[in-house]
Amino acid sequence: MYELLDKRTANTSDRVQTPMIELSGSSLNLGFMPYGQWWRRHRRYFWQHFRPEAIGPYRQTQQSAAHMFLQKLCDNPSDLRKLIHFNFIKVALKVGYDIDVDDGDDEYAKIAKEALEGPVEGLVPGKFLVEFFPSLRHIPPWFPGATSQRLWAKWQAAGERLKNVPFSRAKAKLGHHTSEEEEIVKDVVAIAFEGGTDTVLSATLSVFSGVSLHPEVLRKAHAELDAVVGPHRLPDFNDWDSLVYVNAIIKEALRWHTVTPLGVPHATTNDDDFRGYFIPAETMILPNVWACMHDPDVYEDPDVFRPERFIRDGKLDSTVQDPAAFVFGFGCRICPGRYFAEAALFINVACALHVFDITQPLGEDGQPIEIKPGHTDSLISYPEDCRCMIKPRSAAAETVIRSHATAARQALNERTSGR
Ligand code: HEM
Repeated sequence: MYELLDKRTANTSDRVQTPMIELSGSSLNLGFMPYGQWWRRHRRYFWQHFRPEAIGPYRQTQQSAAHMFLQKLCDNPSDLRKLIHFNFIKVALKVGYDIDVDDGDDEYAKIAKEALEGPVEGLVPGKFLVEFFPSLRHIPPWFPGATSQRLWAKWQAAGERLKNVPFSRAKAKLGHHTSEEEEIVKDVVAIAFEGGTDTVLSATLSVFSGVSLHPEVLRKAHAELDAVVGPHRLPDFNDWDSLVYVNAIIKEALRWHTVTPLGVPHATTNDDDFRGYFIPAETMILPNVWACMHDPDVYEDPDVFRPERFIRDGKLDSTVQDPAAFVFGFGCRICPGRYFAEAALFINVACALHVFDITQPLGEDGQPIEIKPGHTDSLISYPEDCRCMIKPRSAAAETVIRSHATAARQALNERTSGR
C-alpha cells in the first residue's frame, strides 16, 4: 500500500470525480477535490493553520473544552455521544471562526450533523446508481419515486449552510480577502468544522467502548494516572509523554476500531505499471486500512482490545507498527488535521480516564448487559453500541471535575469579554 500511495503519491493522489461529490454537498470539501491547483491552494491554507507549529495556541481551547465536557458527562453520563460531539464542535468553532457556543446551543451541532450526512452516506462507492448513469441526476425531486433526488437536495442545502452560516457570523474576525480567497477560507474552515468533529468523535467513542469492556485496562490506566498526575489535578499536555499506557490505549482504539475502514479512496492521474500489473489513469484505489489494522501477522489476536501490544520495557515500542501511519491516510493526501486530532484525543481521553470509572452497563436486574463490539459501515465508521456506565471514581475526583470546569468557564468568559 505504501509503495503505491506514498512512494508514487504524485500519480496516486487524485480523487475519482463522481456526480455524488456535488450531490452529497461535498464540493467545498478539499478532501474530495481533484488533485490540482485548486486543491493545492486549499490544502496550503489549511496546513498553515493546522501544522504542528501552528496548533500550540489551540491547546488551551482544547483543554478548557475537555474540562467542561467532563462536568457535563458527570451530570449526564447517558449523553456520552452527544457530549463528545458538542465538545469537538465547540473547539472547531472557536479555532476556526472564533465563535463561542454555550452549553445547550445545538444550532451548530445540527448544522454539522446534517452536513456530514451527505458525505458519510453518499460517498460510499457504488451506493448510488447515478455514479454509473450520470443523467439520473437530472430527474427532478418532485418526480414520483425520486427519493434519491430529494435526499441530494437536502444534502446540498446542508453543505451550503455549513459553508455559509458560521462564516457569515465570523466574517469580520476572519480578515479581508479577495472573493477567490474568501471562497478558500470559507471551504477550509468549514472542512475543519466538519472533518474535525465526527472523526475524533468516532475515535473517542472507541476508547470508551474498549475500556468499558476491559476492566483490567482501566485499572492499569488509573494506576498510571495516579502515579503521574495524582489526585489533585487533571492531566495536561505536559503529561503527554509520561502517560505511556494512556497513549497505548489511544493507539489501540485507533487500530481496533478503524475510523475510516477503507480510508478515503485515491485515484491515479496517469497510466502506471505496478509489480507487473497495468493500472490505467483514473483508477480508484481503496486502501483497506481495516485489514491492515487487523492483520494477525502484525497484531496478534487483532480483534482483542489490548493496549499492551504497543509497550515494551515500560515505553512505547517503536518496533510495533503504529496505527497512525495508516489511519490518517497516505501520501500528499494524508490527513492534515492529524496533529490537532491527536492532541484532542490525548487531552480528552487522559482527563476522562483520570476521573471516571467506565464500565459495562447494567440491566434492570443489576447484571452487566452483554455488549457485542460492532462497527457501522459508512465512510466514517462508528462503534455500533457504546453503552457504558460512567461514574466519578471518587468524591475527590468529582471535586476535581467541578473545580476545573468552573475555572475553564471563567477563563473562557474572561477571554471572550477581553479582560
Ligand atoms: C481521529 C481523527 C481523524 C482521522 C482518523 C482522520 C482520517 C483521515 C483520512 C483517512 C483522510 C484521507 C487521507 C487520504 O486520502 O489518504 C483524511 C483527510 C482529511 N482530514 Fe482527517 N482524520 C481525523 C481528524 C481530522 C481533523 C481533526 C481534521 C481537521 C481539523 C481533519 C481534516 C482532514 C482534511 C482537510 C482532509 C483532506 C485532505 C486532502 O484530501 O488533501 N481530519 N483524514
